[in-house]
Amino acid sequence: MTKIILTGDRPTGKLHLGHYVGSILNRLKLQNEGNYDEMYIMIADAQALTDNFANPKKVRDNVLEVALDYLACGIDPHKVTIFIQSEVSALTELTFYYMNLVTLSRLMRNPTVKTEIKLRGFEESIPSGFLNYPVSQTADITAFETTIVPVGEDQLPMLEQAKEIVHSFNRIYGDVLVEPKEVLPDSKNARRLPGIDGKAKMSKSLGNAIYLDDSDEEIKKKVMQMYTDPNHIKVTDPGKIEGNVVFTYLDVFCKDEHFEKYLSDYHNLQELKEHYQKGGLGDVTIKRFLCSILCELIGPIRDRKKELAKDLDNVLEILKEGTDKANKRANNTLKKVKEHMGLDYFTNSEFIEEMKNKYNN
Ligand code: TRP
Repeated sequence: MTKIILTGDRPTGKLHLGHYVGSILNRLKLQNEGNYDEMYIMIADAQALTDNFANPKKVRDNVLEVALDYLACGIDPHKVTIFIQSEVSALTELTFYYMNLVTLSRLMRNPTVKTEIKLRGFEESIPSGFLNYPVSQTADITAFETTIVPVGEDQLPMLEQAKEIVHSFNRIYGDVLVEPKEVLPDSKNARRLPGIDGKAKMSKSLGNAIYLDDSDEEIKKKVMQMYTDPNHIKVTDPGKIEGNVVFTYLDVFCKDEHFEKYLSDYHNLQELKEHYQKGGLGDVTIKRFLCSILCELIGPIRDRKKELAKDLDNVLEILKEGTDKANKRANNTLKKVKEHMGLDYFTNSEFIEEMKNKYNN
């Protein structure tokens, strides 16, 4: 079976460690395993505009920022097609036809959209473009005949919506659209990272993020601010691991070899945790350790990003090539969709014949 993978991000800010563990690592794994026919990563600028319509510069500038982040992390444009959503006009056209297959009440029931409406204060007046973004996302997915969509939990309602539209479309117009399948992150690495303040989500708007281009000094400052255990006051006090952001991060990023390199009094994370729980281990020690690990991870990404940013023409060329390829693929699907809907007036000889007979008999 053909395996086509598609993922995407809204370009509303540069990428942070939360994105890295939540999606980038998984994409790198998929890319490097190479077990697919086509893999796409879409910079969803049109979707970003559905709730940032008044701020187009923010969205535009972050398209390049996100592209640089992808490339700096090791996304390889020879293996993966990176493209810009708004430059693939077939996606907008598909959206328009799919909108007929979805009711307003169905859109209003989407749990992710509901949460976002509250978050953005849209309750009083919901922009219809925003309410419709799950339909547009269905266009993104189906345009490439995507079979696999690696997503986080919050995107499950989008996949459900996509499947419903695929079923309706195929029932009414004939078997054209391919049903996508979601793949949730399975490894312990691909999960949601809390912010440095311990809040459930790392995000730009909460101001609790560590970015993939932060300097060593910024990383250090942020790690030193991290929420630990408020009752762990003296070094000798027993400390709590649960909810302690430093340990949550160590669980994700720490490997045994880091101890040899940066904290050789211990052999593994279990030993460190036990000591912390017993008492006698200070926050500064564990924070310094985490800081070394994060600097080792982020340093090369930051440096590559700086290097790539020196040749933006090259980055634009990569995006242009990816977008050209995406256009070919999406136009092909749009053509099939329109044919099945009977919107092929100039090329459908059967239709032309039928009309001629109707009027000339
Ligand atoms: N909604 C996704 C997000 O907010 C971005 C996105 C747009 C997407 N289109 C997509 C993800 C298609 C997967 C497939 O992160």
